[in-house]
Amino acid sequence: MGGAAHNGAHVLTLEPDDVATWNRLLPEVLSGRARPAGPLERQLPEEQVGAFRFFAGTALASRSALEAEAWLDAGAEADGAELRANDYLAGLIHRCGHLEAPESAFTDPRAYVHFASLPAMRACRAEFVSFAVDSLPSESGALRVLDVGCGDGGLLAELLPALLEAGRWDEVAGITLLDPSPDMISVAKARLAAEWPDARVDSRVARLEHVAAALHGRYDLVVGSLSLHHMPIEVKRRALSALAPSIDHLLLLELDADHDSPEVGSPHLAASVHQTYGWMLAQILGPDRPDDVARESADQFVAPELVSLLTQPRGDRSEYHMRRERWLELLSVAMGPDIRPLGTRTALATPHADLFAMHVGRLG
Ligand SMILES: C[S@@+](CC[C@H](N)C(=O)[O-])C[C@H]1O[C@@H](n2cnc3c(N)ncnc32)[C@H](O)[C@@H]1O
Repeated sequence: MGGAAHNGAHVLTLEPDDVATWNRLLPEVLSGRARPAGPLERQLPEEQVGAFRFFAGTALASRSALEAEAWLDAGAEADGAELRANDYLAGLIHRCGHLEAPESAFTDPRAYVHFASLPAMRACRAEFVSFAVDSLPSESGALRVLDVGCGDGGLLAELLPALLEAGRWDEVAGITLLDPSPDMISVAKARLAAEWPDARVDSRVARLEHVAAALHGRYDLVVGSLSLHHMPIEVKRRALSALAPSIDHLLLLELDADHDSPEVGSPHLAASVHQTYGWMLAQILGPDRPDDVARESADQFVAPELVSLLTQPRGDRSEYHMRRERWLELLSVAMGPDIRPLGTRTALATPHADLFAMHVGRLG
């Protein structure tokens, strides 16, 4: 953050001097000598105080729930309503006694619907669909599409009619749904089979990295929306290389953040999680006391990611968002010389978190 506050994608990042200061101050926090709002924080620029308190609170979480909560509660005061990572995490530790995602089964689809229908997510999806229409060539013929991490199928339900209406394809011949969650697959399959009765709709309950080499189909289009970041870059590389021979076009929608290279417990990871997840939680929970559906939505869809990022080392955790340039580099190299970058667009820009769309594909 410091002097060069913005990194070009609106999201605040730490400069090397900031990292050195945070690492120098942390032992004071862990020893209990420093308190929130005490003299130690005078060494920080004001705009870093909320993020540093989050760093301190998460570092303390495995030692003392009470001390962690004190730093996180103070962080929530510094953040206000725009960022709710401190606030939500303090509540989580209070409820569970330590940093752990609450038990949450996929029983109430309203929690997912709440997440998917947030104004920010709807705007982002609309921009993604419009980017797809603008960027994909007109292919006349029947579309075979694979949706990696399809969720409830809502994205395809918006994308497919838009592609046909714009004349990108003439009809939808095949829809393949891939997701490790059987519940998501069953919702998506029912929905898309009802909406596209003439298309063959098939599905696999699996993670992409486990089946990429064995997907023998041929796909005109692969969509990966908020799903390919669930594996480290080396695993993404292998999965994308295995997928490349079977596809013509790949459309990606991702959060523009680096949760792949920084290690657990590092200032970089804490600062980025504080911003991006803080922003996401503010959208989900809203400015006031959240209702049960909003709370359940945060518990189901954000808490497991947040806890994984804050407690598990690289390799074990579940989230590996990458910056847009890194994705571009990865896709350009991993998919071989026949698949080229064909475009990218910011799908949502906020002061705390950006999402982008990207298209790679075969020319001609
Ligand atoms: C945030 S949801 C996005 C759903 C949908 N693509 C959309 O944009 O609405 C992420 C989805 O990715 C799935 N997922 C997680 N890890 C995955 C993996 N390794 N391979 C494929 N899908 C994965 C999750 O089960 C979940 O349904």
